[in-house]
Amino acid sequence: MGKADHITWHHAAVTKEKRHLLNGHKSCVLWFTGLSGSGKSTVANAVDEALFQRQCHSYVLDGDNIRHGLNQDLSFQARDRKENIRRIGEVAKLFVDSGQIVSSAFISPFREDRQLVRNMFQPDEFIEVHIHCPIHICEERDPKGLYEKARKGVIPNFTGITSPYEPPDHPEIVIETDQLSIEQAVQKVITYLTEKKIL
Ligand code: PPS
Repeated sequence: MGKADHITWHHAAVTKEKRHLLNGHKSCVLWFTGLSGSGKSTVANAVDEALFQRQCHSYVLDGDNIRHGLNQDLSFQARDRKENIRRIGEVAKLFVDSGQIVSSAFISPFREDRQLVRNMFQPDEFIEVHIHCPIHICEERDPKGLYEKARKGVIPNFTGITSPYEPPDHPEIVIETDQLSIEQAVQKVITYLTEKKIL
């Protein structure tokens, strides 16, 4: 007998489509992926602010924050990163179901794990945004001093140093944070959302 036996799915009276009509925009997940220090949180928060100013219903799910609460039991070993991303995918799905535009900012280093999350959504609801930045620049920035600690061996399994980062093959959006300003990055995302008639 499986864990989900004897559990029935309840269909909501207020559907996602009704919420879209009320909100005046569709819902989706902007899945920001990239190295530590690449600018995921910065861009995700700036996009969220721009959406808020347009009176959109939006929210940011952020790696460090989620790991303080919901996922505080998880490490940075590959198996736990997978579970981290799976749970966040489920949370993002609830937000999308509630009619919101959710920006998730997690390294999410493994292609297979991101694909697993993509499969939870309708094709037009999952927008992978590769926050691209050469690792030597991330390391120069080192905003939290983590690369230095990783190089000294203080932090094990550090992405890009002692743990792999697999870049997306076909992301919907690429943002090169060493070449674009934050405003330009935000504009690129907003233009995409507009072209896809999400806004
Ligand atoms: S993952 O790979 O998606 O499960 O990681 P995520 O949940 O986004 O958490 C990344 C943040 O945790 C801090 N941190 C580490 N990052 C990478 N590798 C190791 N070993 C590690 N240990 C702690 C770090 O602050 C990451 O935040 P960002 O914003 O990416 O720098």
